[in-house]
Amino acid sequence: MKKLVVSALGFVLASLLTPIAPAQSSDIPHLDKKDGRFALIVDGKPFLVLGGQINNSSAWPATLPAAWSAAEALHMNTVEAPVYWEQMEPAKGKFDFSNVDLLVTQAREHKFHLVLLWFGTWKNGQNHYVPEWIKSDPKTYPREENAYGKLLDVMSPNSTVNLDADKTAFAALLGHVKTIDAAQHTVIMVQVENESGSVGSIRDFSPAAQKQFDATVPAEFARALHLPTGGNWSKTFGPDADESFAAYSTAHYIGEVAAAGKAVYPLPMYCNVWFAYPVHALENRDHPSAGQEYPSGGPQQANIPIWKAAAPAIDILAPDFYSDDFSLFRSIVATYERADNPLFIPESQFGPNFGRYFFYALGKGAIGFSPFGIDRSAQATQPADQVPLVDRPATPADNYALFNAPGGEIARLNLEGKLQTAVEDKGVARQTIHFATADAVASFGFPQPDGTSPPGTPTQQGRAVVAQLGPLEFLVSGFDVSVSFTLPAAVLKQTPNLQMEILRAEEGKYVDGVWRTTRILNGDQTDRGLNFRSSNPPLVRILLHTLPLYDEALHRKSE
Ligand code: DGJ
Repeated sequence: MKKLVVSALGFVLASLLTPIAPAQSSDIPHLDKKDGRFALIVDGKPFLVLGGQINNSSAWPATLPAAWSAAEALHMNTVEAPVYWEQMEPAKGKFDFSNVDLLVTQAREHKFHLVLLWFGTWKNGQNHYVPEWIKSDPKTYPREENAYGKLLDVMSPNSTVNLDADKTAFAALLGHVKTIDAAQHTVIMVQVENESGSVGSIRDFSPAAQKQFDATVPAEFARALHLPTGGNWSKTFGPDADESFAAYSTAHYIGEVAAAGKAVYPLPMYCNVWFAYPVHALENRDHPSAGQEYPSGGPQQANIPIWKAAAPAIDILAPDFYSDDFSLFRSIVATYERADNPLFIPESQFGPNFGRYFFYALGKGAIGFSPFGIDRSAQATQPADQVPLVDRPATPADNYALFNAPGGEIARLNLEGKLQTAVEDKGVARQTIHFATADAVASFGFPQPDGTSPPGTPTQQGRAVVAQLGPLEFLVSGFDVSVSFTLPAAVLKQTPNLQMEILRAEEGKYVDGVWRTTRILNGDQTDRGLNFRSSNPPLVRILLHTLPLYDEALHRKSE
């Protein structure tokens, strides 16, 4: 009994004392890695990017006010916003940082962090944001040529003149960001280019590029890929030579741009990916075609090793995800979540799957998530109080609202490997999340009358998050799910005479990193698991304890 009182008291004290006032740090935002997991560190603390990207032409004085309102309604903490090369360098060497200044000033006023998106040489596999003085002078600034010699609206990645122009501009941008933001860290990450690669040709076939294609593959690069050295591209890469050459050329170029920026101000830098979506065509035509269905040479799935070898200054290859296919999402997450690549989803659609994708990515250790076009979607920003709570599908705002206050806690728990999620799948209405000391059983859909299996939800929207705070203490929430805890089979095997029960369940929230209890849940709120409905779910902190199933000593005493 005494033990129980002590642990309950410990829980209450922990509630009052943990954690920690915001740490002040002069550290530049950076990535941290622990046992193969990652966190973005901002002001000395792990930071979960609850992001949203504004529309391509929204980083202007006339359109930004709507963007901030949308971001606020979504409970975001970070806005991804473009910096346009054409606007920033209207004449060679003449820089205009007024849009950048506006972004940073207004982000601070609205209490957001920023991820700046460098719309430079590449935007969706084309060159549409390069300045007019470059666009109109293809003799000086070479375009990519297709196999028939047509000049494309893609800059050649094989031209050092193009590279130098982009490097100079990008370094100037980072220099300016350092000047205005080194003390405040409003800008926490930079995306280098946008969905790079070439649309219109598998590679540059211009005479200058062809010369490089026929030359020897750089030895260090070949060695990094464990390939024989000394051969040209065709000999070394065989049938993949064209795209491998494009990937090396694009990665090397962008790696150099990133390195030039980091030399001035070393923020974390990533490249977003237009990955190769599967095509459903005739059996012998089932491969998407590089340069047609996706930009050739970008960091798509098959090019990841080439990019890692050729662009070491890029910290993250981050897939943009535009599909309602959950199994495709899982496979893309599995591809980009690597020991050398933090998981970050910098763009996704606002579709009905937003919540489950976000939860799934979080459970795989994502440092952040960000739907695209936040200043457009009415559905996403619809205030929760304007629609009836019952049966209202959760909006992106509900998801972010849940994590906004404990964002730092969530990112820390994820870095430490203590956070897991369960996401409903077709025909799988119950899932178990295993921790060493307890199993959390997530049952999706309501009602869940006694003696029946959980019904699941019509569109598989059930999802749960469970994070371990102490040996038998967990933070729990979710949507369309009930969560209960049991002893793991392995524990029972070792100590069969054991049972587990809830000692205390608190509903509450984090305020400035400190847990505040709103009420203690018991009775109907805990008897059949912790229940989280389809919108506005609470955060629950639950303390479990174990006791013998049958205590022989007690039994003997009473005889
Ligand atoms: C992906 C791009 O990265 C964005 O800039 C935008 O063009 C979207 N596609 C459009 O939906």
